[in-house]
Amino acid sequence: MTGHDKKKLCDIGLIGLGVMGSNFALNIADHGFSVAGYNRKEEKIRQLSEMKREHHKIETTRDIGSLCQMVRTPRAIVLLVPAGPPVDAVIESLVPHLQAGDLIIDSGNSHFTDTDRRTQSLAEKGLLFMGMGISGGESGARHGPSLMPGGPEQGYERVRPILEAAAAHVEAAPCVAYLGSGSAGHYVKMVHNGIEYGLMQLISETYDLMKRGLGLAPDELHAVYARWNQDELNSYLLEITADIFLQKDDKTGGSLVDLILDEAKQKGTGEWTVREALGLQVPTVTIDAAVMMRDMSTYKKQREKAGRMFKGPNPRFEGGKDEILQQIKNALYAAMIVTYAQGLALLAKASDTYHYNLNVETVARIWRGGCIIRAALLEAIRSAYKSNPDLDNLLFDGHLGQAVATRQADLRGVVRTGAALGLPMPGLMTALAYFDALRSSRLPDNLIMAQRDYFGAHTYERVDEAGIFHTQWGK
Ligand code: 6PG
Repeated sequence: MTGHDKKKLCDIGLIGLGVMGSNFALNIADHGFSVAGYNRKEEKIRQLSEMKREHHKIETTRDIGSLCQMVRTPRAIVLLVPAGPPVDAVIESLVPHLQAGDLIIDSGNSHFTDTDRRTQSLAEKGLLFMGMGISGGESGARHGPSLMPGGPEQGYERVRPILEAAAAHVEAAPCVAYLGSGSAGHYVKMVHNGIEYGLMQLISETYDLMKRGLGLAPDELHAVYARWNQDELNSYLLEITADIFLQKDDKTGGSLVDLILDEAKQKGTGEWTVREALGLQVPTVTIDAAVMMRDMSTYKKQREKAGRMFKGPNPRFEGGKDEILQQIKNALYAAMIVTYAQGLALLAKASDTYHYNLNVETVARIWRGGCIIRAALLEAIRSAYKSNPDLDNLLFDGHLGQAVATRQADLRGVVRTGAALGLPMPGLMTALAYFDALRSSRLPDNLIMAQRDYFGAHTYERVDEAGIFHTQWGK
């Protein structure tokens, strides 16, 4: 027991004392739980020591074996290291110091298939492994994130008091819940991020229309988003968007956002969502568009060249400002609902496919606070799934379906305006197309089936007769 008597052993271990890890350690310690923190680099340990002055509940080490001796058994050790090979490397160095029944919780943005693989190989060694999504960035980690754990339920029960204390709270309920077996937690986090991409794209399109189309200045944009954030659009992303337009650049004194290069980076979770949606054949067109537009943004040189080559319409909007602003607000709200609908439809399909046994109401509940996509809307989404857990599509909820239906004219208006002014709006356009496709009992896919049968004898079904048919077309 190398100097650590049983009483003093820490409640939980934490590997990776970067920004997220350090803040999460401080958060846990704030709630009275003791944390043993490990980082290979001296510098990270020092940084945390400087941050934790007020805490006697955090101990640190640079030796992974000592870390394991500092945590009470059966151990629970959280990993907050970059997703991918670093997670495997840490697990490999950790395992020899663990004993059967110990629990590892990977809280990075790991791909869910990696989580399944790790669960399997650690189970063979008698170890429990959980994948837990954590959302809310640095401030969430410090003051209350949304936590999305999945894996062995007995593992969750072991750390439940700690996670519930550290998570964000909405109406006294913690934004954490056991989500399901295997990689359920990481899957839910992946889809959270896909929705995050979709919402960010939609907001950026409204910004483009208001800036290029209406010529609004940063302080006016701030005022619009801040006002919108007061009622139904209330959300973390709107709140930070409003703030962004107030930020001045230290060097030039101008608006900082205007000086930021318009090439969006991405770490891949949006793309994973799209790949998954394609694989499971769940249409997530607005999320797809968001990922594609981040890709498109990186072709800056080509965009500049094409901008010189092809003149479009004058992007300046000439109509009434108050009316279009109201229209944009309504269009954004409708498109946001449609984006959540797409993400949640993917979750429902994944739950069936991978046997996660997800409860969508629970997912919506723990997304109400702490995470990047937290929004007033999530309470309405939660209550939609509470009244009907088997909802086929969020748009079939009476309240939210109506909210989109009554705003469809505004969504159409904004899409029309964007197209007329030559402003790209694939997020808003795909949200509208999704809505229109969903309400089309007849789509033109009869023609696609005819074409397939024409060139490839792929056969078709008929609307008036059962069976499989083939025609010698053009003969
Ligand atoms: C969160 C975020 C976070 C993600 C960033 C960056 O929930 O706190 O989703 O996990 O890493 O948003 O994502 P991209 O680099 O892909 O934009």
